[in-house]
Amino acid sequence: KNGGKRLRPIIMLEVYKAMAKEHYDEELIAPFLAAIEMIHTFSLIHDDLPAMDNDRLRRGKPTTWVSHGEDMAILAGDMLSVQAFEIISKKMQDVDDIILLKRMSKGLFELANATGAFGMIGGQCVDVEYEGRKIGEDVLKYIYKLKTGALLKAAFVIGGILAGGNEYEINTLADVGLLVGEAFQIRDDYLDVAADENELGKPVHSDEKNSKMTYINIYGMEESIKRVKKLSEDAIRLLNKVRGDMSSVINIINLMINRKS
Ligand code: IPE
Ligand code: IPE
Ligand code: MG
Ligand code: MG
Ligand code: MG
Repeated sequence: KNGGKRLRPIIMLEVYKAMAKEHYDEELIAPFLAAIEMIHTFSLIHDDLPAMDNDRLRRGKPTTWVSHGEDMAILAGDMLSVQAFEIISKKMQDVDDIILLKRMSKGLFELANATGAFGMIGGQCVDVEYEGRKIGEDVLKYIYKLKTGALLKAAFVIGGILAGGNEYEINTLADVGLLVGEAFQIRDDYLDVAADENELGKPVHSDEKNSKMTYINIYGMEESIKRVKKLSEDAIRLLNKVRGDMSSVINIINLMINRKS
């Protein structure tokens, strides 16, 4: 009930719809849509904590630790990270079709993998570990790939898996997700410098405050904007190799290039 763009579930749903066509099954996809947004929200609640980015504004409202205390913010994140998997596994108990069950178990694995040590949480570890240190493009790309790319990749991949995509399609969707993820984080870093706080709904100059090295520090504003565009175009080109009409997903990727929040 707390706003946000809901980008990850929207992408997952649109990929699934495009590929599943007449086999579209809302019951099958629904728990995954909720679960990925729960993981994402957990990441934001913890990201804002004083021990992490120490930010007081999120989606235009006080951050969870400001409104409910640090204890409740830690616990709210913990709860969301578990409940995401609870709702998927609960739904799986009602499914008899072995093929659909297998797809759901693969989807559950992808979400867990994207969340854990070599996913969002691992990326956040490297992100805070390198605060105040000068890093090169290789480390920066690694951070973006994990902290932001992993969940966006999961959104594309899970949509494809639930629709019964083949190995080539799933691998292609993974590549698309990583390209979109990198573009998304570069734009996030750009907005941290250039956006209007009211429009953005979160504090600007958070990265500078935390001595975080970003793409903007290394390449500057203009080059970063170009990079967002190039990565997004590459993603769209690849996406066209997957079955189904991906025009609504392509629209979303295009909207993200110039997003203001
Ligand atoms: C912000 O994600 C955190 C990053 C991964 C850059 P979003 O920009 O998707 O946040 P909401 O959900 O719309 O608030
Ligand atoms: C964090 O990146 C990405 C997450 C996994 C939450 P940021 O720290 O730049 O995200 P914002 O700018 O606070 O949303
Ligand atoms: Mg952060
Ligand atoms: Mg932050
Ligand atoms: Mg940011």
